[in-house]
Amino acid sequence: MHTTETKPVSYKELGFSNTREMFKAAMKDGYAVPAYNFNNMEQIQAIITACMKSRSPVILQVSKGARDYANATLLRWMGRGAMEMMKEQGTPVPAAMHLDHGDSFELCKSCIDSGFSSVMYDGSSLPYAENARITRQVVEYAHKFDVSVEAELGVLAGIEDEVSSEKSHYTDPAQVEDFVKKTGVDSLAISIGTSHGAYKFKVKPGESVPPLRFDILEEVEKRIPGFPIVLHGSSSVMPAYIDMINKYGGKMENAVGVPPEQLRRAAKSAVCKINIDSDGRLVMTAMIRKVFSEKPGEFDPRKYLGPAREELIKMYMDKNKDVLGSAGRV
Ligand code: G3H
Ligand code: 13P
Ligand code: ZN
Repeated sequence: MHTTETKPVSYKELGFSNTREMFKAAMKDGYAVPAYNFNNMEQIQAIITACMKSRSPVILQVSKGARDYANATLLRWMGRGAMEMMKEQGTPVPAAMHLDHGDSFELCKSCIDSGFSSVMYDGSSLPYAENARITRQVVEYAHKFDVSVEAELGVLAGIEDEVSSEKSHYTDPAQVEDFVKKTGVDSLAISIGTSHGAYKFKVKPGESVPPLRFDILEEVEKRIPGFPIVLHGSSSVMPAYIDMINKYGGKMENAVGVPPEQLRRAAKSAVCKINIDSDGRLVMTAMIRKVFSEKPGEFDPRKYLGPAREELIKMYMDKNKDVLGSAGRV
């Protein structure tokens, strides 16, 4: 039996869904579909288990970095394995396999050919016309196979300490209508003050984080009514996990994320997809540090990755229920 595919494979045969129907339902009922990143087995197990248990649709997200780390072939088979596992357990939920921050047409094409149901082409740092041109090229290829495409306008601040959220280039609402029309894209990531990583805002003790720019979001919604919007950089960097990391020997001072109530507000609007990666990283780190600190003799990875996986399941279930509102929708 051949185990390596040389011919393109359709996501439909694998049981994945594209994001179109997911976003339609999310828009209608005022919630957002979770897009959780995975790089390893424990993360994908936790995401799938949490979404099955909370009856939430899910977008399994793979970045270029994840492909480089875990091997692209292995990762996509893990995605397929997750679909099989859900079927076997008899309680599957709609799942998309999505490329996060694709930086070239070739990368998007390679993911589409290997069974992804959705891709992001991120040309947000390019000049507008170039971003629109390559996004259009990706859309033309993707739509031949009914694969959905996400693009981005506006630049999120980086994760470096020196970069504060004021430095992000907010999306210009005046550009969105033309961009969507020109490219034919299915969803649009916008920049309204979120950023990637665990240090999203610079706040002094006692200060609260600046609110997201809901005025920009509303302006975008007016220009492209009913069009699915995506929020990147949406981890909340929950203080409980930061405290745990610091308590058990870590050093993450001044880590701060997006308050859950702001995400809940966004999820009720045209925001249909909310991207969360850092919170998963923090939970794993906190739990592994705890086990190592309490049981310094432990050396079986299952004994520290297992508790990390259990805590991840709880965290994702809480997100689906209390933040995104996606729990109980399937
Ligand atoms: O948006 C970025 C995601 O958190 C993925 O991060 O490129 O380090 O895998 P990564
Ligand atoms: P966080 O770093 O806030 O989790 O954002 C993740 C993300 O946007 C993935 O594309
Ligand atoms: Zn992102």
